[in-house]
Amino acid sequence: MSTILQARELCKTYKTSSGDVPALKNVNLDLEEGVFYAITGRSGSGKSTLLHALSGLDRPTGGRVTVDGTDLYSYSDDRMSAFRRRTMGFIFQQYNLLEDYNVKANICMPLTLDGRRPDEAFFEEITQALGIHGKLRKYPVELSGGEQQRVAIARCVLAKPKLIFADEPTGNLDKRTGDETMALLTSCAAKYGQTLIVVTHNPEIVSMADKVISIEDGVVTQG
Ligand SMILES: Nc1ncnc2c1ncn2[C@@H]1O[C@H](COP(=O)(O)OP(=O)(O)OP(=O)(O)O)[C@@H](O)[C@H]1O
Ligand SMILES: [Mg+2]
Repeated sequence: MSTILQARELCKTYKTSSGDVPALKNVNLDLEEGVFYAITGRSGSGKSTLLHALSGLDRPTGGRVTVDGTDLYSYSDDRMSAFRRRTMGFIFQQYNLLEDYNVKANICMPLTLDGRRPDEAFFEEITQALGIHGKLRKYPVELSGGEQQRVAIARCVLAKPKLIFADEPTGNLDKRTGDETMALLTSCAAKYGQTLIVVTHNPEIVSMADKVISIEDGVVTQG
């Protein structure tokens, strides 16, 4: 199996009025193509910070991230955004939907921005599977938290990225919807050979993962 993402001596220190907060401390990781990773750790241990640093969303204060042979942070912000759109998908802890666009436009947005057209059959399949097919003309403000979460998941999956980063993707869903959502994510990942990196507190999701990455006070252990 080949390495798709490599982190070397990755550090992130937040500067705050009450002093420095070291949230990531010299993190080294090697993530393989097509593998499902669960990231676990207590609240405040640095999971979201790690996900953001690995995916180019927030520049680290030290170290390097290489994705698919590209030194991520050597890119300008614009080039990095374009590279991210083509290579990676995100499901955020806060869903980050665009309020002025309806559900369908939100789901297609990463492709639209990249000048690509969605695969209509796949669009049908995932919106049906996620139970949001009847909501396509609605706006995010008209949806429940769980529905917004599923729209964010559809948006991520539709673009078929090589890497999917998800921060508590089922945190707002009841057990059954959460199970169905994880089933969709894992089956798409298996079908398209995607690497799945999921932050979760849920022991069932941890047990589904191929490998577990633990983080405690910004220090990472790769299982
Ligand atoms: N923008 C920020 N400015 C300053 N400190 C921050 C910022 N974001 C996070 N932190 C701090 O960095 C540490 C790690 O935060 P992070 O959000 O990565 O934790 P987490 O493991 O995702 O927690 P949770 O499970 O609650 O989502 C915490 O001590 C947090 O207070
Ligand atoms: Mg978090």
